[in-house]
Amino acid sequence: MKVTVVGAGNVGATCANVLATREVVNEVVLLDIKEGYAEGKALDIWETSPINLYDTRTVGSTNDYSKTADSEVVVITSGLPRKPGMSRDDLIATNANIVKSVTENVIKYSPNAKIIVVSNPLDVMTYCAFLTAKVDSSKVFGMAGVLDTARYRSFLAEELNVSPKDIQAVLMGGHGDTMVPLPRYTTVGGIPVTEMISEEKLNAIVERTKKGGGEIVNLLGTSAWYAPGAAAAQMVEAIVKDQKRIFPVCTWLTGQYGLKDIYLGVPVKLGKGGIEEIIELQLNDAEKALLAESATAVRDVMDVLDNMNVMEA
Ligand code: NAI
Ligand code: 2OP
Repeated sequence: MKVTVVGAGNVGATCANVLATREVVNEVVLLDIKEGYAEGKALDIWETSPINLYDTRTVGSTNDYSKTADSEVVVITSGLPRKPGMSRDDLIATNANIVKSVTENVIKYSPNAKIIVVSNPLDVMTYCAFLTAKVDSSKVFGMAGVLDTARYRSFLAEELNVSPKDIQAVLMGGHGDTMVPLPRYTTVGGIPVTEMISEEKLNAIVERTKKGGGEIVNLLGTSAWYAPGAAAAQMVEAIVKDQKRIFPVCTWLTGQYGLKDIYLGVPVKLGKGGIEEIIELQLNDAEKALLAESATAVRDVMDVLDNMNVMEA
């Protein structure tokens, strides 16, 4: 079984490395537009196989999509981070052009692939891939909630001095400051988190989670890759092993939560078919209001994309 990761940069190479080390599939194809870059990363990863003891083959490709043919899942990480002097709209146009051309090639060689978008701005780049791929929305979705929830869970584990394995949580909304961590749906070994932590500390962790991406950018001068790469790989694993895991995923909504024609993070069941079910929680009024605010923020950026000629070009 083959999985392709487009973009052999920080996130893409990390995702490929996790997929190989964990032997999630037989073959991981890493593709990048930069000459020799993906080949170099794929070879470096393969050279760890005798040390880390795995069989998964890693194959590099400089923009040759024939090597990606018949991939079961394709992870799209190609895209630029925002640079000084670049407006948000410039970034949308640049990355939308990249995601569009990549998706066209992906679909040409792997028409049945499930596509996981990672490139930012996440919710809108997922929308861009969906418009381009012209396949059912169950096959095109974005990675954000698995990462954002992992951040939330790791902060809680640190604060409570417990294993992160015991923290379960749901987080909804767009991948940005308006994301909606849900303390009411957060448990520690089955115990509601609100029974383990003060409201003040929990609120501080919720706020830290919302700015989790920025916290890493401030420390590193570029965005995160270990957790994003591992998060995308976990989604790939759920699909190729048909695990039917429940994850928050950036998903095309068709009326769920009173929202339609929008990509937004909601809990779903992820398996061989991609998004097999969208789970509708009984949110209270305060939670609904936060989700609506997040949806408005995402829709504003979707409108920017709709008003550009990128998708028609
Ligand atoms: P990076 O700059 O390390 O890697 C991006 C790679 O994409 C580069 O190697 C570049 O050559 C390649 N690329 C550019 N255009 C291409 C094309 N047309 N075809 C194939 N490859 C192409 O960036 P990094 O850190 O890996 O981040 C990648 C993207 O993921 C960014 O947009 C970033 O903002 C986003 N991101 C999203 C997260 C999420 O939670 N959804 C988390 C972290 C990053
Ligand atoms: C992150 O959350 C910047 O989306 C990137 O790390």
